[in-house]
Amino acid sequence: GSSKKKEIRVWCDGCYDMVHFGHANSLRQAKALGDKVIVGIHTDEEITKHKGPPVFTEEERVKMVKGIKWVDEVVLGAPYVTTLEVLDRNNCDFCVHGDDITMTAEGVDTYHLVKSANRYKEVRRTAGVSTTDLVGRMLLLTRNHFRQGSAEYDIEKEDSAAKSPWTGCSQFLPTTQKIIQFSDGKSPNPGDKIVYVAGAFDLFHVGHLDFLEKASKLGDYLIVGLHTDPVVNSYKGSNYPIMNLHERVLSVLACKFVNEVVIGAPYCVTEELLEHFKIDVVCHGGTPIALEDGKIDPYALPKTKAIFELIDSGNDMTTERIVERIISHRLEY
Ligand code: CTP
Ligand code: C5P
Repeated sequence: GSSKKKEIRVWCDGCYDMVHFGHANSLRQAKALGDKVIVGIHTDEEITKHKGPPVFTEEERVKMVKGIKWVDEVVLGAPYVTTLEVLDRNNCDFCVHGDDITMTAEGVDTYHLVKSANRYKEVRRTAGVSTTDLVGRMLLLTRNHFRQGSAEYDIEKEDSAAKSPWTGCSQFLPTTQKIIQFSDGKSPNPGDKIVYVAGAFDLFHVGHLDFLEKASKLGDYLIVGLHTDPVVNSYKGSNYPIMNLHERVLSVLACKFVNEVVIGAPYCVTEELLEHFKIDVVCHGGTPIALEDGKIDPYALPKTKAIFELIDSGNDMTTERIVERIISHRLEY
């Protein structure tokens, strides 16, 4: 009826290059300020003009933002300086951005128009995570490429707080509060078909997203198991993972296809795990499956039980390819 309150539409815009949980957290806060979140993404051309070419293409950047659970609509081609016209055209009431100043190549505040029209609100930027920081870790990784990190790795620290010496540079402080904010807090309904996948999900990317979308379609409730940093390092070597377990938890929780995350899942799928979560199907994508200690197939049990499925994500992105892109871009951050 006419008494129904008008829906509040919130506009957010940016580059969203190398999407991380800091971006997701700003969109989560934006969602809390209204009913719908509409994200305007700059084209590759527009970003190149103002700060040099992005690492990810506009198609990839659009896909990553669409995968974030607080996002309702995505619009490609947002102007670098947010105009009132763009807000009106998308029926948005106001614009939300993190509390950092962004400028055009000419040094103009990109939000000066919406600020003077009183259609601008600020949310707190997430400290300790940024594209610059992630790129720094990747460059550090290559510089030490021939000095395998595993020797310096504290394997004894099996607890979830164990950090690689490289991800240790993060200033992000994980709290239970942040995990609760990112979690949807829903348990499976009786009779729900439960799907389980496990992995590193390091530098959460479009390949992961396509894989999780397909995995979620195999059932009603998707659980993602994340291995600890020492476990990931034991099969990936070098200085992987780039993001520590806590960071990977938030990246995966921000994905709209994921219902629950196991923080520090065992490498091999065990009977206890299957029973505890009442898992109906276990799956893995097209990437190679590393054997535990070079011998044991981590999916041996679900294979025996005939509840294992291979999924083709149709996407060949990997964490290593991202690192290669960064190097070939020779980005000066
Ligand atoms: N943002 C945030 N916290 C971070 C990083 C980004 O809240 N740690 C917010 C920005 O304030 C902005 C939105 O995410 O509102 C998207 O902005 P974008 O231009 O993509 O991000 P950058 O500021 O360039 O962030 P980064 O350097 O990490 O890419
Ligand atoms: O390599 P990682 O452990 O992060 O992969 C997690 C899951 O995502 C695995 O099942 C992997 O096969 C899948 N994946 C995929 N397509 C990609 C990248 C990963 O299906 N491009």
